[in-house]
This record gives sequence, C-alpha cells and structure tokens, in this order.
Amino acid sequence: MPEHEPYRLGVLVSGSGTNLQVIIDRIEAGEISAEIVCVISNKAGAYALTRAQAHGIPVIVHENINFSDRQSYDAETVSILRSYKVDLVILAGFMRILTDVMVNAFPHAIMNIHPALLPSFPGLHAQQQALDYGVRYSGCTVHFVDSGTDTGPIILQSVVPVEQNDTEETLSTRIQRAEHKTFIEAIRLFVDGKIQVKGRKVLIAS
Ligand code: GRF
Repeated sequence: MPEHEPYRLGVLVSGSGTNLQVIIDRIEAGEISAEIVCVISNKAGAYALTRAQAHGIPVIVHENINFSDRQSYDAETVSILRSYKVDLVILAGFMRILTDVMVNAFPHAIMNIHPALLPSFPGLHAQQQALDYGVRYSGCTVHFVDSGTDTGPIILQSVVPVEQNDTEETLSTRIQRAEHKTFIEAIRLFVDGKIQVKGRKVLIAS
C-alpha cells in the first residue's frame, strides 16, 4: 500500500512539450507515483496541449491577454491549480516568469527545468549564451522556483559537452536528451519524499 495518494501534478507549458511527454510516459509506465491532473498553457497553439489530450489529461488554455498585470494572471493560475488540487507544479517549458503570487502559493513545490548549468546563463537563449561564452560543458538544471529568474534552490544538474561545431539547435537537442532524464529523476525524488530544502540547499535522502 502506498503511504499516500499519488501526487497530483499540474504541468505548465508554452511549447512543444517533449518534457511533458516523457513525464506522461514514465507515469504511465508506473515509474513515478503521480498523476498529471491538468496541463495549463499560456499559448493556444502549443503542441504540448495535443500531447496531453492524446492521453486524456484535462487541458486549460490560460492566455495573458485578458490580464492587466502578471500578479492577476498568476492569481488565476493559482486558482486553476487549486481547483485541480495540485500538490506539485511542473514548469515544462513555460515561458513566463512567476510572481510571488504563484511562488508563495506553492512553497518549494514548483519545479522548473533550465537548459544550462545554473547559475550560468539564466534567462532566454541559454544554449546560445553558452555557445557565445565558449564553455566546454553546459547542461541542464532542475530547480525549485523562487521569484527570481532561474535562481531557486537547485535539485539536480546534468552536464552535457559542447562540441566545437555546435549550433544553438544541435546543442539544444543534446541538452534536451539530458533534460528528459534529469526532470524525471527530480520528480521521482520529490514524490518519493526524498527531498528536503534547507535555505538554498536541497538535501536528497539516499
Ligand atoms: C526546454 O529546453 C526547457 O529547458 C526550457 O524550455 C524547453 C521546453 O521544451 N525551459 P519542451 O516544450 O519540453 O520540448
């Protein structure tokens, strides 16, 4: 018998949803004790929505055009997530910065994946930033979200080599392969109750 009901995940997306797809697949394979109860997109045409619908997951298009500021947009996001009784929020390519309204509603229960080894190269075009800087290694970071841009406590990171002839596209593809594994591992640690946050540090039980 599991000690508690499966965690209820709410996944926020803006784009293609390859990370979402891997999470769906690993849950369906019984490798993660969780259920995706809703997928919310700020973009009506996001392919991630099609992926969710193909698996019978409720989808919500939540665009920002009707909201005067970021706080009121986030307040509505919180109310949607609460209506689905979400315990863990997953940002899987959600291209908006969250305000305190979201962060305070789900303390240490919002995870993001970033395509670089933070604190290097936060924000947009992280892969191009890495190429422009000339680093030999980049990678991905799964972290809890705070109200900064890609600044929250780091859960897991994976290192990916940068090749001399890489373009933004080839490096992004290589990093995404690492993202898919790293995100799954971080979600699994969370739902298995193995993560504890102490200040900036995330402690992982063995
Ligand atoms: C990923 O590269 C992730 O690091 C970034 O957005 C991208 C989402 O890709 N935050 P996908 O929509 O999961 O394919």
